[in-house]
Amino acid sequence: MELRELLEEAEKACSQSYAPYSHFRVGAALLTAEGEVITGINVENRSFGLTNCAERTALFTALTRGIREFKAIAVYAPDGESPTSPCGACRQVLSEFVDGDFKVIFGNTVDNYVITTMGELFPYSDLHDLKERL
Ligand code: THU
Repeated sequence: MELRELLEEAEKACSQSYAPYSHFRVGAALLTAEGEVITGINVENRSFGLTNCAERTALFTALTRGIREFKAIAVYAPDGESPTSPCGACRQVLSEFVDGDFKVIFGNTVDNYVITTMGELFPYSDLHDLKERL
């Protein structure tokens, strides 16, 4: 599957975003190693710190279904003036399950996006990455 198509899946998921406090809607679409797409949304709470980002919702849904291998994630956030990249907490949580080659695409429209990797967004997250630098 093309990364742009994955972004379109994130766009569809975004319509279910629960963001009554920030009004900042986010949808995520995680591509599994087997080519399945698992989506997630941000889920806010009146105690805002309990908010779950769309990326983590997608990841936790996949893990709950027994899926632990992933190729890419798309993050669609239409309320930003420019594309929104995954937050630090999501980078840390994703890094538990993916390596530096894992692709990340994030856009505020399906035509305005950035394509990068976990290696760029969250370097030195495990011993393997570090060993390559020694
Ligand atoms: N948010 C996400 O869901 N993913 C991101 O990558 C950035 C931030 C959510 C959290 C909160 O509901 C809203 O966007 C504003 O920060």
